[in-house]
Amino acid sequence: MLFPRKHRLVILISGRGSNMKAILEAVKDGRIPHTKVVGVISDNPTAEGLTIARKYGIKTRYLSAAPYKTKLEGPAEEKYIATIKKWKPDLIILAGFMRVIKSRFIQSFPNKIINIHPSLLPAYPGLHTHERVLAAGEKESGCTVHFVNETVDGGKRIIQARVPVLAHDTPQTLAARILEKEHVILPYAIRLLLEKKISYESLTEPLQWRDEWKF
Ligand code: GRF
Repeated sequence: MLFPRKHRLVILISGRGSNMKAILEAVKDGRIPHTKVVGVISDNPTAEGLTIARKYGIKTRYLSAAPYKTKLEGPAEEKYIATIKKWKPDLIILAGFMRVIKSRFIQSFPNKIINIHPSLLPAYPGLHTHERVLAAGEKESGCTVHFVNETVDGGKRIIQARVPVLAHDTPQTLAARILEKEHVILPYAIRLLLEKKISYESLTEPLQWRDEWKF
């Protein structure tokens, strides 16, 4: 085929959007080749990430998820599903989308939804990971890209990156060290999935990121 269809990504955010930005950069500079980010959706109208996406010329939507505060369900969920279906994505990326995704949404896009979480799953799912890692005296933490299923942060793991926990770490310093890795492994995982180097079916253990891979 002379002009094969580009891979299509939809990104969901709630706030800062630094992981989304890392994806947009990787698409722009060709590390995620032959791909278009077809839309960014936020459940928060003032998310900084929306402003960033617009600067990249990406279509953005604010879709309220009211009346719920922490989940996506009911009429709002239907609105998300309908909007995303129109965009025909190959992958949907939750990049700091701070809501629990329910089964209707998940079943509408089988094996197409991935999330980035700032811990070495299955350890420390949920919120306040860095505080809990420090309180437990862990020597290592990191981040995980995983498929989304009905268990919060519980779907099949795709790739992890590890960082040391240092003696004087605060939740903020640890978060910053991990975030640097998030910005690498999330775009890298997207590339591997789009190129079918890995798939939901083929994955057993998550890949372990190595800095010498230099993505
Ligand atoms: C990241 O730490 C991500 O792992 C978590 O939420 C944060 C989002 O940050 N799920 P950003 O909006 O991508 O900057």
